[in-house]
Amino acid sequence: MDTKTVFSLLYFAFLAANRTVVSGAPSFSIDYKNNCFQKDGKPFQYVSGSIHYSRIPHYYWKDRLLKMYMAGLNAVQIYVPWNFHEEKRGVYNFTGDRDLENFLDLANQTGLLVILRPGPYICAEWEMGGLPAWLLQKPNIVLRSADTDYLEAVSSWMAVLLPKMRRWLYTNGGNIITVQVENEYGSYYTCDYNYMRHLRTLFQFFLGDKTVLFTTDGNTDREMTCGTLEGMYATIDFGTDVNISQAFSRQRRFEPRGPLVNSEFYTGWLDHWGDQHAQVDTQKVSRMLGEMLSMGASVNMYMFEGGTNFGYWNGADHDNRFRSVVTSYDYNAPLSEAGDPTEKLLAIRDTISKYYGFMLYRTKLPRDLPEDTPLISPLNGVHDRAYVSVCGVFQGLLERDTTLVMNLTGKQGDQVDVLVENMGRVNFGSKINDFKGLLSNLILGKDVLTDWQIYRLDIDGAIASGWPQSGQRRSSPNPVRGPSDGPVFYQGTLPPNGLAWDTFLRLNEWTKGQVWINGVNLGRYWPKRGPQQTLYVPGPLLSPTQPNNITVLELERAPPHTRVLFMDRPQLNSTAGKTSQLQTTDRQT
Ligand SMILES: *[C@@H]1O[C@H](CO)[C@@H](O)[C@H](O)[C@H]1NC(C)=O
Ligand SMILES: *[C@@H]1O[C@H](CO)[C@@H](O)[C@H](O)[C@H]1NC(C)=O
Ligand SMILES: *[C@@H]1O[C@H](CO)[C@@H](O)[C@H](O)[C@H]1NC(C)=O
Ligand SMILES: *[C@@H]1O[C@H](CO)[C@@H](O)[C@H](O)[C@H]1NC(C)=O
Ligand SMILES: *[C@@H]1O[C@H](CO)[C@@H](O)[C@H](O)[C@H]1NC(C)=O
Ligand SMILES: *[C@@H]1O[C@H](CO)[C@@H](O)[C@H](O)[C@H]1NC(C)=O
Repeated sequence: MDTKTVFSLLYFAFLAANRTVVSGAPSFSIDYKNNCFQKDGKPFQYVSGSIHYSRIPHYYWKDRLLKMYMAGLNAVQIYVPWNFHEEKRGVYNFTGDRDLENFLDLANQTGLLVILRPGPYICAEWEMGGLPAWLLQKPNIVLRSADTDYLEAVSSWMAVLLPKMRRWLYTNGGNIITVQVENEYGSYYTCDYNYMRHLRTLFQFFLGDKTVLFTTDGNTDREMTCGTLEGMYATIDFGTDVNISQAFSRQRRFEPRGPLVNSEFYTGWLDHWGDQHAQVDTQKVSRMLGEMLSMGASVNMYMFEGGTNFGYWNGADHDNRFRSVVTSYDYNAPLSEAGDPTEKLLAIRDTISKYYGFMLYRTKLPRDLPEDTPLISPLNGVHDRAYVSVCGVFQGLLERDTTLVMNLTGKQGDQVDVLVENMGRVNFGSKINDFKGLLSNLILGKDVLTDWQIYRLDIDGAIASGWPQSGQRRSSPNPVRGPSDGPVFYQGTLPPNGLAWDTFLRLNEWTKGQVWINGVNLGRYWPKRGPQQTLYVPGPLLSPTQPNNITVLELERAPPHTRVLFMDRPQLNSTAGKTSQLQTTDRQT
């Protein structure tokens, strides 16, 4: 490539981090034509997890939300337990552990959208399904029906709750994308459409008639029939014991067009006193999740983080006998009751993240490091190579199984970037659960590095859509330190010559990286390590009439003359010893 164009990968990370900026008024709706949600005019699919703020002390909310975000979720689904906020009739509490708006704010800061489930009935294995016990002071009250006393209490509560939610609607600059009305109403005996009509009117009155309202019901025709009503999008829930295509075809019978949605995909299950501890198989959960996501369905995992039934807040079931729910609501969920990641979390994270090969981890130096200080990957937790820079200056790399220590210098507060490259998943033997990324914390001197921000870098997507463009150009790579420069993009063009035949790309003297031709990722090159020296370029990738775009991401160090060669034959054995005799003159950029 004659015209050397250099782009910093960190600039790319900056772009990735700011991608969510919206121009124009935010919008969220159901796209019946294309069978999906639409967010800001673009197709949208959610991968969500349930978390109950009422089961987690508020000082841990941020931690749990961050972990959910890091697992790759873009939304959380939450219940509002009415009896938690109105324990005594007419006395409302929205402070401390009951500060719903603080929770919404933390989710919004974390970058998580919210699916709000305000009931009034929520089930949730929560005391009386979230309904306040004082409703029973009227002896013949028919709960969850158009009973006047019940409706009056519901209306007064919603007149307190829903106006608070208005500013949190996505369309009003907040993060609530959809709002559920009632909960699995079809499984209750009353089947009272007047009640559901009343709720629909109430929700539309307080939230506006543009807000996406939905219902959720179990996977039977009876439940879907009694639980759904026109004007509220009908979704379904089911777990790992169900045939996915059959369940979604049931949803389709009630909602012929629009997105497929599983509102409660059961990652685990609850326990009752005296029963066996419930467990749901990790492999099944991650496999079915993958299948649903690849169908384009939006999925909420129930639960993602269960928490605890503190105090007397546990619920109970009464099918053929009374069974009270235990105190822990761990639920065998991906994050444990105490918020710790489980094997299920790692498996799910792997399913969700469409790996593009690269993840960027960013944090700050906890203290001044004037002298070389060792950065250690204690549990061999870098999968598979990590390129480390401080304030954009490359410092060195860590590699799985081989390089577990490197040195760093810098000042307190300096930005530390760790670009982690996935070198391919183990596909054979006992280690096929090969999780990628940073799997354990890094230790710097005496400190454990924490507070990571994590970006999945969709480099392929960006390059395919024409990134980088001129104007984002940097004149030279970062200052050199040590044996390499760190990750840098180079871009050039190959003039069209009217022909497009199969060739083999050779990156003489380049170190290690990735190459794209006209947006297509040819793969990794690593001539220094060998044996492979050339990459196959299928002829149809090259345009015979237009300049061909070549992008190289060199991770370590480019040669002084950044050129690549198009050869007429492959070289897969670096020790062949005849390199210089090969025809290297075919084409050159
Ligand atoms: C409101 O709830 C919080 C959190 O449970 C509690 O600390 C506080 O005492 C309650 N306020 C009142 C007035 O009951
Ligand atoms: C939610 O976060 C976005 C992005 O940071 C911010 O612009 C918006 O004001 C926040 N919304 C609310 C209601 O705080
Ligand atoms: C699910 O049901 C469909 C249609 O009834 C069937 O073709 C498919 O094989 C089933 N899938 C599984 C995993 O049993
Ligand atoms: C780190 O720096 C120390 C002191 O300068 C040196 O002895 C050590 O070899 C360095 N370690 C690595 C991995 O470069
Ligand atoms: C090369 O990139 C330019 C700018 O993005 C684009 O217009 C052109 O079509 C690309 N060339 C080919 C052959 O795809
Ligand atoms: C690769 O090169 C080495 C050294 O010249 C040679 O011994 C070996 O047979 C070659 N392998 C193949 C598959 O050609």
